[in-house]
Amino acid sequence: NHLSIIGVPMDLGQMRRGVDMGPSAIRYAGMIERLEQLNYVIEDLGDIEIPRPKSNKESKLDNLRNLNEIAEGTTRLAEKVDEVVEKGSFPLVLGGDHSIAMGTLAGLAKHYDNLGVIWYDAHGDLNTADSSPSGNIHGMPLAVSLGIGHEKLTSIHGDEPKIKPENIVIIGARSLDEGERVLIEEKGIKVYTMHEVDRMGMPTVMDESIEYLRGRTDGVHLSLDLDGLDPNEAPGVGTPVLGGLSYRESHLAMEMLYQSNMLTSAEFVEVNPILDERNKTATVAVGLMGSLFGESLK
Ligand code: ARG
Ligand code: MN
Ligand code: MN
Ligand code: MN
Repeated sequence: NHLSIIGVPMDLGQMRRGVDMGPSAIRYAGMIERLEQLNYVIEDLGDIEIPRPKSNKESKLDNLRNLNEIAEGTTRLAEKVDEVVEKGSFPLVLGGDHSIAMGTLAGLAKHYDNLGVIWYDAHGDLNTADSSPSGNIHGMPLAVSLGIGHEKLTSIHGDEPKIKPENIVIIGARSLDEGERVLIEEKGIKVYTMHEVDRMGMPTVMDESIEYLRGRTDGVHLSLDLDGLDPNEAPGVGTPVLGGLSYRESHLAMEMLYQSNMLTSAEFVEVNPILDERNKTATVAVGLMGSLFGESLK
């Protein structure tokens, strides 16, 4: 019952400024107090240092905006996550844009041969420089972690792929680019789109996901992009997509994960307080953490 909080003030993976303030917004929404009530021993390790971006001209070489700065920042994060797991604590990472998942997963990969990943997101984040419509690296971290992408990214904290396609479950997808669809098909990645969530209901989606991962993984990471939720519930995100997961569905998902007793790390990303309404999205994030760590079931 040791939690180690790691803030990652990263906004270089996309074009809307402000998501670098996500860690502050989440802390300000009362995260520590909330989790302390659940009897965890919490250490806040503060924020990882993220480099400043280069000028716009040199920043978007090869359709990979801020490549070098992101590689540097996520490498630092990977080292920190590695350290936290090494000492037996649970890493809870606060974003920052979703590019930070490359660092989190790289740090975790040193400790798990078959790390499971629940990717709770409107997007697949399975682009490469070739398939990306934007050149934004926050649309690429899942592909990179599979070993697919620019060498500077796939070699963060180790050259091997960090995860395997059969150990991933994507939940909430409703905006997939063509190249991402091809990769999902080719690699056989399990995806519950909004269509499946609507048809099956969240209880079945989570029961299936948990059962699927339990059989094949030696640890499970939750990577929760707040844009997985509907923008009405979580307006403070840079790439909102209508028709998302509800507040209640999301709390249920967190509660079921808590009950599964299989989670070994988590990250909450893409909270952008500048785009938000009175810190609503960070507050939702903290509420979800409450459920993820056992609040409503005690
Ligand atoms: N698929 C789009 C892109 O590659 C959007 C990605 C959004 N990713 C995110 N982590 N919010 O640019
Ligand atoms: Mn280690
Ligand atoms: Mn997203
Ligand atoms: Mn994402």
